[in-house]
Amino acid sequence: MKKNDVTGMAASRFEGRLKVTGTATYSAEFKIAGALYAVVVTSRIAKGRVTAIDSTEAERLPGVAAVLTHRNMPKLYKPTNDFQTSKIYEERLPLADDVIHYGGQIVGLVVADTFERARAGAMAVKVEYSEEKPSVGPKNAVYKLAPPSFGEGPEFKTGQFEKGTFAEAAKTAPVTVEGTYRTATELHAPMEPHSIIAEWHDAESVTIHEHSQWLPGSQRAYAEMFGLAAERVRIVSPYIGGGFGSKALPWPHAILCVAAARKLNRPVKLMLSRRQMTANAGHRSETEQTIRLAAGNDGMLVAISHEGKCVTSPVEPYTENGTGVTPTMYAAPNLLTKLELAVQNISTPTFMRAPGETPGMFALECAMDELAARLKMDPVKLRIQNQTKKHQKSGLPFSAKAFTECLEVGAEKFGWAKRTPTPRSMTRDGLLVGWGVAASTFPGQRLGATVKIRLLPDGSCQVLTSANDMGTGAYTMAAITASQALGVPLDRVHVEFGDTRLPDGGLAGGSMMTATLAPAVMAACHTLLEQVKAENVAAALEMLRQSGRAAFEATASSAPGDEGGKWHFQSWGAQFCEVTVDEEIGRVRVTRWVSTMNIGRVLNPKLAASQVRGGVAMGLGAALMEEALLDPNSGMPVVYDLAGYHFPTNADVPHIDVFFVGEPDLNFNPIGARGVGEIGITGVAAAVANAVFHATGKRLRDLPLTPDKLI
Ligand code: MOS
Repeated sequence: MKKNDVTGMAASRFEGRLKVTGTATYSAEFKIAGALYAVVVTSRIAKGRVTAIDSTEAERLPGVAAVLTHRNMPKLYKPTNDFQTSKIYEERLPLADDVIHYGGQIVGLVVADTFERARAGAMAVKVEYSEEKPSVGPKNAVYKLAPPSFGEGPEFKTGQFEKGTFAEAAKTAPVTVEGTYRTATELHAPMEPHSIIAEWHDAESVTIHEHSQWLPGSQRAYAEMFGLAAERVRIVSPYIGGGFGSKALPWPHAILCVAAARKLNRPVKLMLSRRQMTANAGHRSETEQTIRLAAGNDGMLVAISHEGKCVTSPVEPYTENGTGVTPTMYAAPNLLTKLELAVQNISTPTFMRAPGETPGMFALECAMDELAARLKMDPVKLRIQNQTKKHQKSGLPFSAKAFTECLEVGAEKFGWAKRTPTPRSMTRDGLLVGWGVAASTFPGQRLGATVKIRLLPDGSCQVLTSANDMGTGAYTMAAITASQALGVPLDRVHVEFGDTRLPDGGLAGGSMMTATLAPAVMAACHTLLEQVKAENVAAALEMLRQSGRAAFEATASSAPGDEGGKWHFQSWGAQFCEVTVDEEIGRVRVTRWVSTMNIGRVLNPKLAASQVRGGVAMGLGAALMEEALLDPNSGMPVVYDLAGYHFPTNADVPHIDVFFVGEPDLNFNPIGARGVGEIGITGVAAAVANAVFHATGKRLRDLPLTPDKLI
């Protein structure tokens, strides 16, 4: 690969045809002879205890094989739960005791010979509770300094960081802005519901068909909980119908399914309903963030304060870290970030596409727009002049940063120069028109992976690894990498993922899969040629055919070195959008979108742009529609399915132009790719809110920007 070609080969996803023709096999679709069906029983209260469970009627129903409750739950062991060896979504093991921590919590599991009979059994289980008043909603939340959280370096120990003295600096600064921003609880709602089939071969070995963003981690987690060697657990996950962070670790329903299958010595299949997914498969925590900016009359920042609040369930200390982005974005001699967490009787939140960055960039990038308006300065210029060359906490320089180019190229493609800055100054067809801009950012991260390559006499090659593709194009990315590194035509590369029998393919999370896997694929290809001492693939094939062997094979790994001590790796972007606002009915329409991204090398511009478009569409949902409400009195979900949970459909999403700028980040890895899965969603809601301000003069700081807030 040449050093300066930032974009690679535009290829369609090779498994696309399998998916649209229904021949790609998802977790629930494996045909396992003799499989039973399991349905969960969930709590109708949000806090209290189970005082009685009567399952006699359920057990008498035809076809019902077992009812699991906390009274007869088989013993499980605690996993290491350190996110190195393993991690489960809820620290508390399922059915551990009689305590109810949140509405919709699983209190039982019914297994029967058909799905309908299992569901009838679940409805026949009678549960009695002693109910307490749940703590739900920010009004009665008790916030405490957050524990160390994902996306933060070791220097972030206490949830708080300060350099300089914000309070003093802000007092004397000529220009200050302050705003409190709120983001709503959001659901991942992947197209494929959460599902699993567990098949024990004997009491000591099991095959688990479950979508997984991290197969080796999932393998180790189940092995630890069931007291097995990891080699006795096989995870199979060839296709994933979207995950967004909600399919990376075992959830309670899945652990129960595996336990029930062992107890009954029969394969058991479980799929959550859309309703159950609102409580049992994660969400993004709501946040409240206060940002204060202080600047000189020249628009140079002198002080930044970003204080964030988020909530979690009693069974897992998950934090939605909105404040982590601020030290990466702008330089100021005085910087304060503080993150607080409240434990409430809500279901367990988790990572959801750009966790932390999504709410964080909404608050920060709206605040920057407020500052630009106060200064009467172009918001593009304000961002360029305040960006930082070094991470404001670690002091490390950014590698291959092209943030200025993102803003300048985006502004040019969008036609930003034609914007008249005064709010309400642009109209079209009787509607107010607003143009907004916001920055995007996401860290470049990678872990280790191992890949086996096989070169076959027919000139094809196989790429074998336990990586996964949740719809991102990872299969195609691995194929492109092997094709280019080995010199085999793309259509002769066969990639096999999704099985823990293959070498450790790493984690699809934190936008890491490309940066983790592509270097390992490249290393395996190079190793293969070196091992057989061939100049190129033609020579290797000639030797292979002469040898009479079935294949040449090579296995290689790639992992980060010490580069993380010299550089901070971060991706950058800019979002430009146009909205029209019909003030009479409070309707916002997004009519135009330009995203410019600096993600290092772009291995496949077609699918990378598709990732950015997906991120923007998801961000439009956060900006305008998505809100998973709980009843403030009962604590039970009010939005309980996809009929009540509004998200963008085709008519809500304009054409999205995506451009890539910058150069390969070869300090980061030998491929120079930083990943693209999450950055596209960041800054989207801020760009929309800033455009709405430009259109209407109304500064809305609470997401989603529903019509009632505009009237
Ligand atoms: Mo992503 S939220 O790291 O799957």
